Amino acid sequence: MDKKSQIHEGDPNTTGHEWDGIQEFDNPMPRWWLWTLYATIIWGIGYVIAYPAWPGISSATAGMLGWSTRADVANDIAAADAANATINARLAGVELTAISSDPELSGYATSAGAAVFKTFCAQCHGSGAAGAKGYPNLLDNDWLWGGDIEAIHTTIAHGIRNEEDADARYSEMPAFGEILEKDEISAVTNYVISLSGEPDDASQVEAGQTVFADNCASCHGDAGLGDRDQGAPNLADAIWLYGGDHETVLQTVTYSRFGVMPGWSTRLSEAEIRAVSAYVHQLGGGE
Ligand code: HEC
Ligand code: HEC
Repeated sequence: MDKKSQIHEGDPNTTGHEWDGIQEFDNPMPRWWLWTLYATIIWGIGYVIAYPAWPGISSATAGMLGWSTRADVANDIAAADAANATINARLAGVELTAISSDPELSGYATSAGAAVFKTFCAQCHGSGAAGAKGYPNLLDNDWLWGGDIEAIHTTIAHGIRNEEDADARYSEMPAFGEILEKDEISAVTNYVISLSGEPDDASQVEAGQTVFADNCASCHGDAGLGDRDQGAPNLADAIWLYGGDHETVLQTVTYSRFGVMPGWSTRLSEAEIRAVSAYVHQLGGGE
């Protein structure tokens, strides 16, 4: 068949291109299509003038409208702060013990406190507040320094063995390696373990009790139940800050420990400290 026969009378001109017998008509673009193209070009130029567009070395061109996502976030934060200003002022002003009986205040404090905890406390106490070796579990009702809201607030605001704050919680267990003989340390270690479990050497427990009464009871109490005024842990429960196996207790008694927590009154607002205090208080062990 003659290839040319596919062109009919009245057809537009062809471009002259031909592939395998297929020829290309030379039709103009439809009007509507062209106008749409021109409109997008004009819109694009306007956009580049109005908004950040061309990437530079450290930032993009700014645009005439001065719009930026960062400024948007800053505005959102300022708006949230303004919205919370009233309740924050109320939180900072009420009696600490009144927070839990005010549903609106305690609801706000608990959720704001959870956010503070995730940011500033979870590194040491764990994201679920269950603690780790040397960092107390805040979920149980075993407290070193006290578990009512006022005690918790004081601990958080001023810290523990925090040298930057004269009101910080403070006490210092001596390193008994420099005070007692090795056999006395071994005996008292067995005694301490016997208070909540099975000692390595039960024959030393009695001698250990005497060592304990002479050296340890002033802080840990006659029965080893601890003393919150000095942050001395209860040694008669099976809850350990550093560990209750023979090796660890021996190490604690020989070298002592000196757990440090920073104070937060210089870093957080009073409302934030109260919020996180309320959060910790309601975790389960609050008194
Ligand atoms: C750098 C680590 C660290 C950070 C961060 C930290 N803590 Fe502590 N926290 C400790 C240590 C260590 C102790 C125990 C000190 C001791 O031996 O008495 C402690 C003790 C506590 C206690 C006392 C528990 C008790 O049994 O009496 C509370 C309450 C507490 N922390 C809350 C917080 C809160 C709330 C935050 C965040 C605002 C926080 N901590 C941040 C290390 C930390
Ligand atoms: C001046 C007070 C004081 C005296 C005296 C003292 N302790 Fe302590 N003890 C503490 C404090 C405070 C802690 C918590 C240490 C920390 O977190 O740094 C502690 C912690 C411990 C722990 C760790 C408990 C755990 O949960 O891991 C053991 C074990 C212990 N003491 C045993 C003894 C024994 C045994 C003696 C006597 C030979 C003794 N202590 C004397 C204050 C004292």
